[in-house]
Amino acid sequence: MILVTTAGKVGAETVSLLRDRGMPVRVLVRNPAKAAALAEAGAEIAEGDLDMPATIDEAMTGVSAVVLVSPAVPAQELNVVASAARAGVGHVVKATSKASADSPIARRRWQAEIEAGLAARGIPHTLLRSNAYMQNVLALAPAIASSSSFGSAARNGRFGLVDARDVAAVAAKIAASPAPHAGQTYWLTGPGLVSNYDVAAVLSKQLGRTIAYRELTLEANTAAMIKAGVPEQIAQMNAQAFSLAADGDAEWITDDVPSLLGRPARSFEQFVSDYATAFS
Ligand SMILES: NC(=O)c1ccc[n+]([C@@H]2O[C@H](COP(=O)([O-])OP(=O)(O)OC[C@H]3O[C@@H](n4cnc5c(N)ncnc54)[C@H](OP(=O)(O)O)[C@@H]3O)[C@@H](O)[C@H]2O)c1
Repeated sequence: MILVTTAGKVGAETVSLLRDRGMPVRVLVRNPAKAAALAEAGAEIAEGDLDMPATIDEAMTGVSAVVLVSPAVPAQELNVVASAARAGVGHVVKATSKASADSPIARRRWQAEIEAGLAARGIPHTLLRSNAYMQNVLALAPAIASSSSFGSAARNGRFGLVDARDVAAVAAKIAASPAPHAGQTYWLTGPGLVSNYDVAAVLSKQLGRTIAYRELTLEANTAAMIKAGVPEQIAQMNAQAFSLAADGDAEWITDDVPSLLGRPARSFEQFVSDYATAFS
């Protein structure tokens, strides 16, 4: 049995792909109603909360591998790691980012803390250190629909944007057959570097109207995200990451996705085409 915690962008797709492979899979969610499609696909739904260790222990019963993907709050993910250690789980696949103990961005320090906690437990594991997800662009859809424009503190910085569905495909593949991936760190990206000017151009072509991109200060970007409903701390961390990207921090691509999956990583054009209805 493979346990996936939780059912966000990467987790839900990982569960679907594992079911496509006929693997027994359980998914820990706070709200089972949101996971109805996954239940329909044959996944076991474990109602639980990452802040409640007893619910994680219950979901961990009979589990051989865990895919750990959640908002990366150390106390929560380390609860999963501790539960996996208690249950003698054989492998953990951890979704992470450019983790670093001395990063100016709290989320990256948290990822480093979780990675260190996982290593300290001695559980065989694989780190999926991804560049920014293409799906982040979906958060801009309301602004694009109402104003045909969007802004960011990333200025003209480029990202090795990766489709979260490809991150999930890698997670599913490794969880299904983890042994060769123990101790490995993969750096997951899409096939090319994409700036927000490129994002605007691809969206303009797809939507058949001009979508404009505006360079914002870090403060204006933070305020815009808070206005759009992003919690303040997350808006601050996102804007910090965009601002670092303006100076080339996200300008990296690798062949890890095609090497692991045996097919090309999805391009940003493919992503926009697949999600066209979300932007129109
Ligand atoms: N976004 C990026 O560009 C990017 C890039 C690289 C790495 N990452 C990493 O990817 C991970 C996030 O993956 P994602 O984007 O797939 O996640 P996501 O879509 O944000 O989903 C997070 C999920 O966690 C669930 N959750 C939150 N608190 C919970 C709790 N206390 N108990 C149980 N479930 C809880 C949420 O459930 P509800 O539906 O109940 O709220 C939601 O389904 C993080 O480690 C992040 O750092 C992200």
